[in-house]
Amino acid sequence: MTNPRRVLVLGALSAMAVATARLYAAEGARLVLAGRDAAALETLAADLRARGALSAEAVTADLATTSPDALLPALLVPLGGAVDAVYLAYGVLGDLGLAERDLTVAAQVIDTNYRSAALWCLAVAAVLERQRAGSLVVIGSVAGDRGRKSNYLYGSTKAGLGVLVQGLAHRLAKVGARAVLVKPGFVDTPMTEHIKGRRGPLWATPEQVAPTLRKAADGGGTVVYAPWFWRPVMALIRAVPSPIFHRTNL
Ligand SMILES: NC(=O)c1ccc[n+]([C@@H]2O[C@H](COP(=O)([O-])OP(=O)(O)OC[C@H]3O[C@@H](n4cnc5c(N)ncnc54)[C@H](OP(=O)(O)O)[C@@H]3O)[C@@H](O)[C@H]2O)c1
Repeated sequence: MTNPRRVLVLGALSAMAVATARLYAAEGARLVLAGRDAAALETLAADLRARGALSAEAVTADLATTSPDALLPALLVPLGGAVDAVYLAYGVLGDLGLAERDLTVAAQVIDTNYRSAALWCLAVAAVLERQRAGSLVVIGSVAGDRGRKSNYLYGSTKAGLGVLVQGLAHRLAKVGARAVLVKPGFVDTPMTEHIKGRRGPLWATPEQVAPTLRKAADGGGTVVYAPWFWRPVMALIRAVPSPIFHRTNL
């Protein structure tokens, strides 16, 4: 029998993170769940234990404002001080119209999706490097593949994070640890609740994306699209010349 997986989820209340944690629970994993809503985290932890998790501990923290240096060692204690997979799932879409008028709103998107996420990635990478094992799985976005007028601020944070993860994957490769960027397309979650017509063919459910997130920790490429068809779609979108792209309303 293999040892139970030790899994840390940063932003555990994200719909995609919940669906992924349920897959780990069914395998009998040990989980630490970090997020902002204490009551919802306790409910999730109980649900995961009921689904087969060997343990599931909830830790309440605002991950955009808490220093990873201070919190990461404490998050690993319930896992015995070591970890097999760390998921970085938290993020905000933000209101681009507001952010264009009010830079404090823009700063909040940047702080959450890039500044703090990058610091968590660096802190986790140091742990994986010391362990010479383990995976960091970061949720990026296809929005980071090309800037467009409807979501370029959010997209830029995901693009920056993507380059960071790519560099960490390179750094960790020599010790046998991994960093992976998973780029979902449109996923029907609370983040996209406000979007009309969100059940078309390009939309996925968190449950459809979760197996890709689960598998990403164990092997495969370091940049993974979820679902897979976003890779050719985004290759096409990146290839559209600017004069044509600028006539679109994307
Ligand atoms: N949905 C999509 O179409 C889509 C597509 C591509 C990528 N993504 C990315 O996928 C990831 C997961 O999002 P989702 O779609 O699953 O949406 P979601 O269910 O709305 O999850 C986002 C989570 O981030 C948490 N969060 C935000 N700021 C935080 C902070 N400072 N500290 C702790 N937690 C914080 C939120 O917690 P609260 O409940 O406390 O606000 C929420 O649980 C995000 O990184 C998102 O950018 C989403």
